Amino acid sequence: MAYSDKVVDHYENPRNVGAFDANDDSVGTGMVGAPACGDVMKLQIRVNAQGVIEDAKFKTYGCGSAIASSSLVTEWVRGRTLDEALAIKNAAIAEELALPPVKIHCSILAEDAIKAAVADYRSRHGDATATAAADS
Ligand code: FES
Ligand code: FES
Repeated sequence: MAYSDKVVDHYENPRNVGAFDANDDSVGTGMVGAPACGDVMKLQIRVNAQGVIEDAKFKTYGCGSAIASSSLVTEWVRGRTLDEALAIKNAAIAEELALPPVKIHCSILAEDAIKAAVADYRSRHGDATATAAADS
């Protein structure tokens, strides 16, 4: 199949590949798998005291579209609050990368990875972000 230029760009020059220490309190880790193809995506976010995502890293075992989707979302979540990150939908990822219908589940994997990373961060912080917001 023909990949779009943006998929090829993210695939050949993936942004923010790597990992943070999952035990670091400022880190949320999301690990998700796609039952359809067996691909696995790990997305980590680093959140500051104001509840804003400062940095993100990913590792993906999967196809070019899955790698491009995860690379793209590491760029998109930066500078966003957790709620703003949760507003990133797979349709926007698929549109940005011009994914064909058969590859839509790759973008769903990336959306799920964001949700999982935010949920992990929140599960270990209670309502820390709400507290930070109230303090400011
Ligand atoms: Fe999983 Fe794409 S089918 S690599
Ligand atoms: Fe399965 Fe891309 S995540 S083909």
